Amino acid sequence: MPEPAIRVHNLVKLYARRRQPTIRAIDLLTFDVARGSIFGLLGPNGAGKTTLLRVLSTLARPTSGAASVLGHDVVASPLEVRRRISVVIQETAVELFLTVRDNLGTFARFHGLGDAGIRTRAERVLEDFGLASEAHRKVMDLSGGYRRRVQVAKVFMVDTPVVFLDEFSTGMDPVLKRSVMEKLRREAAAGRTIVLTTQILGEAEELCDDILILNRGRQAARGDLHTLKLLSQGVYDVTVTFDRLPPGIEDELAARGPIRLSITQSTVEVTLKEDDDGILAVVGALARRGRVLRLEVGGASLEDIFVELTKEGPRVGADTGDHHGGRA
Ligand SMILES: Nc1ncnc2c1ncn2[C@@H]1O[C@H](COP(=O)(O)OP(=O)(O)O)[C@@H](O)[C@H]1O
Ligand SMILES: [Mg+2]
Repeated sequence: MPEPAIRVHNLVKLYARRRQPTIRAIDLLTFDVARGSIFGLLGPNGAGKTTLLRVLSTLARPTSGAASVLGHDVVASPLEVRRRISVVIQETAVELFLTVRDNLGTFARFHGLGDAGIRTRAERVLEDFGLASEAHRKVMDLSGGYRRRVQVAKVFMVDTPVVFLDEFSTGMDPVLKRSVMEKLRREAAAGRTIVLTTQILGEAEELCDDILILNRGRQAARGDLHTLKLLSQGVYDVTVTFDRLPPGIEDELAARGPIRLSITQSTVEVTLKEDDDGILAVVGALARRGRVLRLEVGGASLEDIFVELTKEGPRVGADTGDHHGGRA
């Protein structure tokens, strides 16, 4: 098997705080990223996505464990790593004072492009990203969405084998977003490895070959879309509206250990992991408890699974990563 583009082993990143519990931003992660793949880090706010990209791109030091990019350790050989990556996280102060064109140029120069190469490439990239008319403006004078474009545009100035993108689509209109997604797919097809973070499930679904769902610094699930979708099999959403809510129904359902249970007025919504017979028994039992005005049973969506995997409390099935003790 060829050497993966990225290797992460038992990685931990802690943030110590005064008089407050230490934050376990990355809490013992182990995974590989295959060369030429688009790898999605999916997770809610605070899951540790940005921290992970910062460690992989040498902007932050891990507390323990190891990470390497194309065989170069991020702590031992940060420069070797930096030469091989393009990173879109947040612009630095310096970049804000430069014009759009100079941002692209400075970045390309760091990666070894000459003046002539930079000029031709910049023309194309400025055009592609709808930035031609802003080329001479300072980044600090641009709106958030435009700043993001400049950041993402840089990736296309160079041919670094590895690209890190932190929530690249923030502030992009749908048309531009679509065209960037197409470009990213082309880059991956040409052999670049792309690691991106997102909170938007659809983005990961559409773009990524491999997805790691991150929750509170830990792996909640990992796999390609097909594998993740298997997680949602055997999970059902049941919605029942009664003419009057039968007494004691909440306790009865709670006793079945539902993934989710909510009751509003006379409607019961419950998500359960059951086999087909089990779910029929539940629906039958519910229907016998009162006069049913509406009944719906559906398979849970990947969205449900994502919600389930990234909330506090018990988790459903399959690979839930490391279990190494609780959390305060
Ligand atoms: N520089 C920092 N100092 C202290 N805590 C931080 C720092 N950066 C991130 N954190 C904390 O680490 C956790 C993970 O944050 P982050 O990596 O930004 O998550 P995400 O990008 O998934 O939203 C959060 O609890 C966040 O508050
Ligand atoms: Mg983030």
